[in-house]
Amino acid sequence: MASDLLHQIRLHGAIPRHIAIIMDGNGRWARGKGLPRTAGHRQGMNAVREVIEGAVEAGIEILTLFAFSTDNWQRPRVEISALMGLLTVYARQERAELVRQGVEVHVLGELDRMDAAARRAVDTIVDGTSGGSRMRLNLMISYGAREEIVRATRLLAERVAKGELDPSAIDDDAFRAELFTGDQPDPDLLIRTSGEFRLSNFLLWQLAYTELHVTPVLWPDFSRKELFSAVRDFQRRERRFGRVRAG
Ligand code: FPP
Repeated sequence: MASDLLHQIRLHGAIPRHIAIIMDGNGRWARGKGLPRTAGHRQGMNAVREVIEGAVEAGIEILTLFAFSTDNWQRPRVEISALMGLLTVYARQERAELVRQGVEVHVLGELDRMDAAARRAVDTIVDGTSGGSRMRLNLMISYGAREEIVRATRLLAERVAKGELDPSAIDDDAFRAELFTGDQPDPDLLIRTSGEFRLSNFLLWQLAYTELHVTPVLWPDFSRKELFSAVRDFQRRERRFGRVRAG
């Protein structure tokens, strides 16, 4: 049961501060039930709600969800509209509940590619949840890690060209500060659903030392129980960051 797992997690200390999730398998979930892909995305939205609640319960500080990639702009127009529509519904329906739970939402990515209605919805949920102090939720939308790295490089180059920054001052911290995730700690744990062992252009810089957990569960079926199992799996790992074991 989920509550037993939560108890186990608390007993074993070391809770990941930051969890990132590649939410995959909505289409396969729908196909398996003879439903249109959009039905999978709708059910996926319920899983988003459930996982946020679970993450708050477990004491996770930052939850980063890959909701829409720059590659997803290549999907059929109807599917893109359905996803943007769901995001708008989500922002409208969930804002009050997120405030109640103390969740502060940040939406990160190339947001100027979104249509005006979806953009307004994003602004509303970001403004409306600002100040939530229990957990930060990063919704990555129109996001691609290579694009993010190229953008960070361009921003640094512009500062150098203006004479504001000396190239010798470009180090890890200076680079990190130009990423969408800014000065947040890197994810401790990355979860990918639907059994695929790929990063799919997600947080390539930030995942350098992150522990990976791949589960065959399709995203719409992902629940608190799966989240807590992933945290228990993380707690059994020995993180060495390239060093040897202490003692
Ligand atoms: C991957 O499944 C999922 C997505 C591309 C979108 C994720 C969106 C949601 C979970 C719903 C809405 C989210 C919010 C935050 C309101 P897929 O379509 O690639 O599945 P497949 O690989 O089985 O085809």
